[in-house]
Amino acid sequence: MELAGLNEALDDPLLESINFLNEVANRYPDAVSLAAGRPAEDFFDPDELEGYLRRFRRHLSEDLGLDRRGVARTLFQYGRTKGIIHDLLARHLEVDEGITADPEALVVTVGAQEAMLLILRALRAGPRDVALAVSPTFMGFTGAARLVDMPVLPVASGPAGVDLEDLRAQVRKARADGLRPRCLYVIPDFANPTGISLDVPTRRRLLEAAREEGLLIVEDNPYGTFTGRAARLPTVRSLDDGAQVAYIGSFAKTMLPGVRVGYVVADQRVGGRERGYFADELGKIKSMVTVNTPPLSQGVVAGHLLTHDFSVHKANSAVTVLYRRNMDLVLAGLERRFPAGSGVTWNTPAGGFFIVLSVPFTADDGLLEHSARTHRVLWTPMSHFYDGAGGETQLRLSCSSLTPKDIETGLNRLAGLVAEQRTGAVVASR
Ligand SMILES: Cc1ncc(COP(=O)(O)O)c(C=O)c1O
Repeated sequence: MELAGLNEALDDPLLESINFLNEVANRYPDAVSLAAGRPAEDFFDPDELEGYLRRFRRHLSEDLGLDRRGVARTLFQYGRTKGIIHDLLARHLEVDEGITADPEALVVTVGAQEAMLLILRALRAGPRDVALAVSPTFMGFTGAARLVDMPVLPVASGPAGVDLEDLRAQVRKARADGLRPRCLYVIPDFANPTGISLDVPTRRRLLEAAREEGLLIVEDNPYGTFTGRAARLPTVRSLDDGAQVAYIGSFAKTMLPGVRVGYVVADQRVGGRERGYFADELGKIKSMVTVNTPPLSQGVVAGHLLTHDFSVHKANSAVTVLYRRNMDLVLAGLERRFPAGSGVTWNTPAGGFFIVLSVPFTADDGLLEHSARTHRVLWTPMSHFYDGAGGETQLRLSCSSLTPKDIETGLNRLAGLVAEQRTGAVVASR
């Protein structure tokens, strides 16, 4: 049987993006990857797994008074749709982020990715509804929007991380076109892909603008822990006293991507409902998407939180030093290889995983393939983070999952690619 006429999102190159980048990486396993936004594996320890689960079991029996049967049921049975570790997550948010949240306003999700999908599904009531996102942005958000037929209008990032003038202009224009802007997706800390963070005045002004425009801010914060040389800044959610922000967290970078646990704090009240939060509506959708987040995964996260006094930030102090060192090595390495006048420039993020490099030639998927094959170095074309045109002569470098030797080799190879593109002489990199 041949299938035709499938959902039109499936013909959108955006949905191929992650697979394409993975596929290139798999085809050239000896290439140094300056592409992958993966956490470092140096601190992954399989022995910790049992320890975390044991710690969670102890919590269930000693703190919650469950007998053996109750513990088994909690870990092995279908569970509460919004999750079973909401109280512990609320404590973690208080400790690490200064966010006070009613545990009932939390939904534990299968990664941040599911949280985005749930929010977009809920907000998309009809063909007039649109989302806005600071552009360039994480393709997971734009991709999830495609799946629910929600157009995403770009808002310029600018040097501050969000151009508030442009935000207002986009909202105004959308309304004039008969559209209904529902939310703004933003990554205020060490954004993917730009590495930019919003300063505190910008965060406050963003909140103000969102309030005035009646726009829900969807704040996604997977990288905020990795402060590099910067001081930690308050999340937009922690500055918000009017439930203007739905806050998405993820343990993919701060614990284990494989655990697939994220969450959303959604304490907005929903019009027409007697009681309850936006989170309850998201829970209804979740019950038809993933039913519940696997309790074993939630147990690992909970055990980690209990073991580390609820501070993911403190538990990550060693790996944060590693990321800071890598970022410094990449920045210094770029400086040495691309002097002023070379036509190559880059930004200097204060932390996180990513740096954006601008080059005097087109850096597209074709060049990435060539780079992987001939120079054995991978990077991410910035065009993948634009919904439409943009980023054609830029590439994203990631410094998270590399040794100092990889960084040197990777940058040498990248310099080889740049020299070749500028002079036209193809010389395979060492
Ligand atoms: C900005 C951003 N949000 C969310 C995610 C995905 O999070 P999760 O693995 O929890 O779905 C990523 C992963 O790369 C990301 O960069």
